[in-house]
Amino acid sequence: MTHVTKDILYIGVNDHDLDLFEGQYIVPLGMAYNSYVILDEKIAVMDTVDRHFGARWLANLEEALAGRTPDYLIVQHMEPDHSANIALFMQKFPSAVVVASAKAFTMMKNFYGDEYADRRIVAAEGTELSLGTHCLKFIGAPMVHWPEVLMTYDSADKVLFSADAFGKFGALDTEDPEGWACEARRYYFGIVGKYGAQAQAVLKKAAALEIRVICPLHGPVLDENLSYYLDLYNTWTTYGVETEGVAVFYTSVYGNTEKAVRLLEEKLKEKGCPKVAVSDLARDDMAECVEDAFRYGRVILATTTYNADIFPFMRTFLTTLAEHGWRGRKVGLMENGSWAPTAAKVMKGMLENCKDTSFAETQVKILSALTEENIAQIDALADEILR
Ligand code: FEO
Repeated sequence: MTHVTKDILYIGVNDHDLDLFEGQYIVPLGMAYNSYVILDEKIAVMDTVDRHFGARWLANLEEALAGRTPDYLIVQHMEPDHSANIALFMQKFPSAVVVASAKAFTMMKNFYGDEYADRRIVAAEGTELSLGTHCLKFIGAPMVHWPEVLMTYDSADKVLFSADAFGKFGALDTEDPEGWACEARRYYFGIVGKYGAQAQAVLKKAAALEIRVICPLHGPVLDENLSYYLDLYNTWTTYGVETEGVAVFYTSVYGNTEKAVRLLEEKLKEKGCPKVAVSDLARDDMAECVEDAFRYGRVILATTTYNADIFPFMRTFLTTLAEHGWRGRKVGLMENGSWAPTAAKVMKGMLENCKDTSFAETQVKILSALTEENIAQIDALADEILR
């Protein structure tokens, strides 16, 4: 239990036992499920935590309460990593009331069998809840990350409770050697990325508020240099280019496609490319690859023809990018195929609905192993992608 401000206390938990967050994301640094309590004339608890940590969370809450009784449980987001202990809380504090959006109450019934019809306040955009000194105002944040989400602004301490936004992978008792942005970017593009327009709309609403502290549902409380985080979120939610350079994604069966990729990497560096990020889609974390595809403005895709299609890891990668609204990038294609190469055509077809995506005219076509002609194609592709 730690103080965020004089009246706002952190009561979340760290998870080091989780194998995959949301059933798909590796979390080598663990995960934090954040929850907060606001102590005023009335007491509000902001969200619960994952189902495995109910007892620990309640112990944190009771320590923060120091004998007092909470009046409200504010449910900003119904995903079970935050909502799993609503029933536990409501049983423990029978005089408390749940505050959530109408959609959240429908989900509460669907997930946990109760919508607390006689113990609830249905909140929406603009609803205010006074705790005494602190007045909470709710901000609709549909699709950041689910449709029922409300964020909450406390005008007394200028705190934005931002639900999943500004969250990151990683437990709070574990130092992240890469700083905030890396795991926050992987989290944002994996989990919210498709909904950039909705996230941008919430940022615009937040821009009208004076914010001193951001309290997300995952990751650290952000209380200094907020423009750094807001600027990054602005870039991410508008699909802007964050880092100058080229991201190269490949699969290789016998090493020939990889050899072509390494030659391209060398040429890009020789030609002055500030950063070349190369990923092996079969071996590197897919979510890390996805974030890099959004991070850089220029992307090279290299893969083998496989069952008259493309290699499975590249197929998964491109499907994920298209599903997540990937757009506005310049793409170069390299294909390998021993008898009927079709990979470049398939890759281009998979990205045809990605808005504002352009393709380099130069393509590298390898018929098994690199030839002199391929080396010249790679040189020309490096020039074209950097142009
Ligand atoms: Fe952290 Fe969308 O739940």
